[in-house]
Order: sequence, then C-alpha cells, then structure tokens
Amino acid sequence: MATPTLAKARAVQDIPAVVRGFEQLGYITDPSLATVVFLTLKLGKPLLLEGHAGLGKTEVAKVLAAFLGTRLIRLQCYEGLDVNSAVYEWNYQKQLLAIKIEENTGQSIIEKEKHIFGREFLMERPLLQAVQEVEISPVLLVDEVDRADEAFEAFLLELLSDFQITVPELGTIKAKHPPLVVLTSNRSRELSDALKRRCLYHWIEYPTLEKERKIVAARLPGIADELERQVVGFVQSVRGLNLIKSPGVAETLDWAQALMALGKTRLDSAVVEETLGCLSKSMDDTARIKAAGIEKMIAEVG
Ligand SMILES: Nc1ncnc2c1ncn2[C@@H]1O[C@H](COP(=O)(O)OP(=O)(O)O)[C@@H](O)[C@H]1O
Ligand SMILES: [Mg+2]
Repeated sequence: MATPTLAKARAVQDIPAVVRGFEQLGYITDPSLATVVFLTLKLGKPLLLEGHAGLGKTEVAKVLAAFLGTRLIRLQCYEGLDVNSAVYEWNYQKQLLAIKIEENTGQSIIEKEKHIFGREFLMERPLLQAVQEVEISPVLLVDEVDRADEAFEAFLLELLSDFQITVPELGTIKAKHPPLVVLTSNRSRELSDALKRRCLYHWIEYPTLEKERKIVAARLPGIADELERQVVGFVQSVRGLNLIKSPGVAETLDWAQALMALGKTRLDSAVVEETLGCLSKSMDDTARIKAAGIEKMIAEVG
C-alpha cells in the first residue's frame, strides 16, 4: 500500500503542478528540472542532481520535502564518511555505564549482552533514521555524494536497491515507508555507472537570464526592479569571463542582498568594486573581472 507521502507524490497531476508548487515555495524550476522532479515523484526512483556549486541542488530536496509535507533527513557526505556516521553507532559510554550498574544483579552474560545491544543504546544516524520512519516516507537527501569515497558509494547502492539495513545485533530493518531519495554531486569525481543507473539524472545548468531574474525576485521580494535587472545582467556577463570559479545563484543572491543592505537601488562602479568579494572568491578572478572593465559591463547591462 502506498504510504501518505508516496500517495501524495503519485497524485501530483502533471509537470505544471510541480512548477507551481515549487514556485509557491520560492523555488524556480525550468522545464527539464520540473520534468525530472515529476518523474521522480511518479516512479519513486532516486534523483541524482549534478552541477556546479550554488545552483540550487540541495534546495531541491528541501523544497521537495516541504512540497510533500514530509520530513527531510539529510546526510552530508565528506571524505572519510563511514558507515558509523551514516547509519548507526552504539553508544559505548551508555553501554559501559549499564554494565557497571548491572554488575551485581546476578544477570547472566547473555542477558546483559542482549540488554546493552538493545535499541535504547543505538544511536541512529541519517540512513537508519530514513528506513525507520514510522509514519510517512521522508525525503532523504544524500548531499555531495562525490565527496564520500567509492566504498561508501557501493554501500549506498545496496541501500538504494532494497531500503533495508542490517544491524548484526538486531537483525535486518526494512523500511516500512521507503524514502524518496535525492542525491547531489558537485562532480569533484565521476560517480559509478552502477549508482547512476539506479537514479533519474539531471545536470543543473547555470540559469538563463530570465530564470535567474525570477529567482532573485522570488528570494528577495523587497529588491528594487532596476537593481534586480542589473545585478542579474552583470552576473551573467561575469559568467562569460571564463573565471576559475564562476559565480552561482548563491553568489548572485548574496551580492544582491549586500547591495540592498548598502541601500543601493542601482549599480555604480564604486560599489561593484567594493563588493566584488561576493562574486569572486579569488584574487585571479577579481583581477579578471576588473580587467574586463566594470564600468563597461555596467553600461552594457543598461
Ligand atoms: N531555482 C532556484 N530557485 C530559488 N532559489 C534558488 C534556485 N537555485 C538556487 N537557489 C538558491 O541559491 C542558494 C544555493 O542553493 P543550494 O541548493 O545550496 O546550491 P547547491 O546545493 O547546488 O550548491 C540557496 O539559497 C537557494 O535557495
Ligand atoms: Mg549543496
């Protein structure tokens, strides 16, 4: 039987319903992203989002959970992430304390062992939480999976195929309500074909001018029209400069917010120069933007 979240997911009628629902939550989609989200909901397959940093990958999972009215469980991946941090750990201190307390109770070793390897001593990490959810399917975000190593990716693969986890002392726990899974990757390394094969895939591009203007307007409703138009136009031309790290949407929003905080309603070359740190995170990139001519770029934006 479909669980409430999945039932709701499957009840989403069409792609425009995704576009509207996400927009109401402040997230602007484009046709290809809306399509892949719609298919994720219909098919219940994991969704793998790849793309440069700051383009709205993580946010898709957050908005998806809000859209479905369910809990978001997040596993942030990093180098050296192991099963202990991702799935479960025994609470050794609590176990030791229990052993001490029970020292003279006359319990047999087997009884004691059974007790200290019980649920109350288990610390659930995100993946175990995701398969243990008792009420409704959560959204499980496996964020920046490219940062974890290949062994962890292989482990994940197993979880994604049958949504069950084995804790040797407790047995196998199978998800009553399988989570909807969103994986993100900044592509610092190529993910395995096996993982990609299990997922629906979408590469998030830098937004078009039109999409980015909608994003800024949705995220910063108080922004002056002219500033919004100029900021987005300027960032779009900066992206054409072949920088080491092109600014993402996150940088556009940071910069617009900084300019608003400074009381600006339009760009001028002095303020652009003073706030370039919002767009460029390296001296080389800053130099490249300056060399392109800030004055000229503002003039081109109009
Ligand atoms: N399409 C979008 N609509 C609304 N906000 C967006 C969109 N894309 C990015 N953002 C905003 O940009 C910022 C960075 O997004 P995030 O999901 O953290 O990026 P990523 O995970 O790709 O690095 C967030 O504040 C997010 O809300
Ligand atoms: Mg992210």
